Amino acid sequence: MKQSYYTLNNGNTMPKIGLGTWKSDHGKVYKAVIEALKYGYKHIDCAFIYKNEEEVGNAIKDAIKDKIVTREEIFITSKLWCNSHKPLEVVAAIKHTLHSLKLDYLDMYLIHWPIAFKNSVIFPNNANEMIPLEHLPISETWQGMEEAFKSGLTKNIGVSNFSIKKLQELLKNSVIKPANNQVELHPYLQQNGLLEFCKNNNVLLTAYSPLGSPSKENIPQNKVLLQDNTIKNIADKHKVTSAQVLIAWGLSRNVAVIPKSVTTERIQQNLDASNIVLDNEDLADIAKLDMHHRYVLGSVFALPNSGYTLNNIWDEEVTQKP
Ligand code: A2P
Repeated sequence: MKQSYYTLNNGNTMPKIGLGTWKSDHGKVYKAVIEALKYGYKHIDCAFIYKNEEEVGNAIKDAIKDKIVTREEIFITSKLWCNSHKPLEVVAAIKHTLHSLKLDYLDMYLIHWPIAFKNSVIFPNNANEMIPLEHLPISETWQGMEEAFKSGLTKNIGVSNFSIKKLQELLKNSVIKPANNQVELHPYLQQNGLLEFCKNNNVLLTAYSPLGSPSKENIPQNKVLLQDNTIKNIADKHKVTSAQVLIAWGLSRNVAVIPKSVTTERIQQNLDASNIVLDNEDLADIAKLDMHHRYVLGSVFALPNSGYTLNNIWDEEVTQKP
């Protein structure tokens, strides 16, 4: 299966579909990455906090050793965790991730969340373990990201879970512009405003949880995207699966899509979705599904007196109740 690419704001390219590894368990993710690379995936999306970068790294190393792929033709993304937002910590963090992944450089490094913790903390239990953005602004963290880029530790830098407001500030205060913003995006959370903003400002949007992967923190009743009737009907019409419709829909809007799977058959069908062309009727039907529903709320970060609330994390009023 051949991959196709988007061109980033710096002229580099990024594969349109990648393999997500969030929640890919130990003992399974090695095989998933090998199967994906064998089938033609070129992009693997990783993060320090997924706690599986060692195993992903073993798979990448073996795939290169066995000549399934070369380092140059693959695109590896990872993300800076919230406990390493000080500029010197950024460089240490990317080096740590590179060591786990057994790579010399990343293709994309993203600030995972616009949220900062103290360095010793992985997940905060109280406000004391967090650092408000007024004390450690994103512009400072970005200096560390720019340093990582200039040192050749990563070919591209970007952000994740950033609102229009936070992107605007970053675009204003940066020398190297963010190339990518990775956010939750699917038909129940279509992100039309953010998509338009990113298009106008040359920031590629990547969709995480493109299949609406229900997270433990926010499982609503009757909102299982993969079982949505509209999606199912479109899938039947094209003789494909609902997951493939969701991926094709993302691609139709020029968004990069990173479905997670550890199942060989699904890994393959997800990449095959790049051959599906949805028609105007399909797109109009899917447009009607938008309900601005977040599966990933980030409630774990909105601790009392921390300076972080769901409203200021997303820069919008968050009304959904878990
Ligand atoms: P699994 O990894 O067991 O194959 P998201 O990327 O939106 O977070 O979705 C990931 C979830 O969707 C995982 O539970 C994954 O299961 C499942 N999944 C991935 N691809 C498909 C597919 N083609 N059909 C059905 N479920 C899928």
